[in-house]
Amino acid sequence: MTYPAFETLAVDRDGAVLRVKLNRPDVRNAFNGAVVDELQTAFRIASDDEQARVVVLSGEGKSFSAGADLSWMKEQATLDAAANESGAAHMANMFLSIARCAKPVVARIHGHALGGGSGLTASADIAIATEDTMFGLTEVKLGIVPAVISPFVMQKIGAGRARRLFLTGERFDGREAERIGLVSEAVPADQLDARIDAVVADLLSSGPCAVASAKELIRAVEPLSLEDAIPVTSKWIADLRATPEANEGMSAFLDKRKPDWM
Ligand code: COA
Repeated sequence: MTYPAFETLAVDRDGAVLRVKLNRPDVRNAFNGAVVDELQTAFRIASDDEQARVVVLSGEGKSFSAGADLSWMKEQATLDAAANESGAAHMANMFLSIARCAKPVVARIHGHALGGGSGLTASADIAIATEDTMFGLTEVKLGIVPAVISPFVMQKIGAGRARRLFLTGERFDGREAERIGLVSEAVPADQLDARIDAVVADLLSSGPCAVASAKELIRAVEPLSLEDAIPVTSKWIADLRATPEANEGMSAFLDKRKPDWM
């Protein structure tokens, strides 16, 4: 699978790991229309890229991301109503392309993750941040709201915490982001890459179809009642345990050997 030459991203495949790095460090990786287009392209290709088994999303320079580029947001506001709205929908789809990527997405968060930067954090499956990363749903400070990111953030932190953070726009650190579930882990800065590598290694040691299926399972089960989940989950495991990958995984355990996933 080949990736186009990107202007605003650095994209490299490192074995089975696709590294997608936001690459506008001069504006703290604020995202404009080009970033929105390119991130969607990268994550859509990654979904179909058989060589990529994990995607690591990170930011070049001092910050992970300072959110939406405010010059671009101001420009968007001057468009006619239909173009303004379709631009916002396109931005929302950028977060969705990350959340729905067929590969597990690990976000490496450092420096700042403000506004849409917190949204990008929330759209990843697993986010690991430095303890001193500055987070915030700061939109109200700019007279706007965290609208398109709200479903992604609320799925991680819940409506109760969102009521405080969306309304005050207060900033908080990585430890607090871990406490409220926005990130899965906050670590000292000198341990960030080692923790990312450990999580990536864990993902790579699991069955690739099983990992993709686990991501889909969460999506399918979340809206269901316990009763309604039974036919869905029982068919799910019945289908999955009959696959060659499951046969290999369970056989390898019983034979006391490492599974051969490929
Ligand atoms: N949109 C556009 N430009 C941005 C930006 C954004 N969201 N965030 C930072 N920049 C630009 C700054 O304007 C500055 O440009 P300049 O060099 O031409 O003056 C450059 O990035 C560096 O920012 P600066 O504020 O000088 O860096 P810093 O390291 O002191 O602070 C932040 C970094 C992220 C804390 C600070 O820039 C900030 O608060 N940004 C706004 C974040 C925000 O509220 N995002 C929500 C968007 S919805």
